[in-house]
Amino acid sequence: MVSMASSELLPPTPAAKSALHTVPTGVHDQARRRLIVALDVPDRASALVLADKLEGTCQWFKVGLELFTAAGPAVLEPLLKRGHSIFLDLKFNDIPNTVAGAVRSVAALGVHMLTVHASGGPAMLAAARNALEGLPGGPRLLAVTVLTSMDSAQISAVGLDRAPAAQVDLLARMGIAEGIRGFVCSPQEVGTLRALTGPEGVLVIPGIRPVGALSGDQKRVATPAGALRQGASYLVVGRPITHAPDPAAAAAAILAEMAEAI
Ligand code: C5P
Repeated sequence: MVSMASSELLPPTPAAKSALHTVPTGVHDQARRRLIVALDVPDRASALVLADKLEGTCQWFKVGLELFTAAGPAVLEPLLKRGHSIFLDLKFNDIPNTVAGAVRSVAALGVHMLTVHASGGPAMLAAARNALEGLPGGPRLLAVTVLTSMDSAQISAVGLDRAPAAQVDLLARMGIAEGIRGFVCSPQEVGTLRALTGPEGVLVIPGIRPVGALSGDQKRVATPAGALRQGASYLVVGRPITHAPDPAAAAAAILAEMAEAI
């Protein structure tokens, strides 16, 4: 069983705090604070319909490339106003100066976590980290190690002659050397990364599939309970919730499984 110090959880915004006061405390509340639902939808209206369906069940939403490109920063406002926590997953990968500027722009949006690709290299990671330094209450910076959709064949196709786990290990060590303490990795590497980062590391884990769910394009997957037991701080779940006939019921079932594992 993996317990999580409260310092590993991001402090909720004032609006989120008041929203959290209305939900029960205990393991169910802890589970709720650690589940991030990926709003991978094509427009603002669909995102808000989904958020409505999950209101009261889920605290965190991930806004990624599809929704942010279509709807822009304005889509964040109604979610933040309702007290939700936002993981803005744009996975920046560019020259250090450009990434630093993009990270500063994200910080101004009031979101709670953001991503850059660790494969952008040490100088880029340092620039991203420096861009957030001195910003009180700024978002948590996460470095994406190897996408959960990449298996050995995909990795060798981009010229890397190593297993996914070895590449994740290399990128995480590089990130830690640059002062990064938050990572995105697959459930299969979370145990190794937890050992590398210690309890203060924030490990955000996609590729989550409840038993019986379709894996889709995800290659390195685990169940919600399995990922938590390996040391995940947060679970990112998209299609198993968003494509379910009743998204709130699907989320509630995942939260119940998480609560058992906490
Ligand atoms: O639908 P599904 O549960 O597979 O969604 C997973 C989400 O996590 C997607 O939004 C995807 O962009 C994101 N993600 C991922 N692998 C990473 C980083 C983020 O699948 N390494």
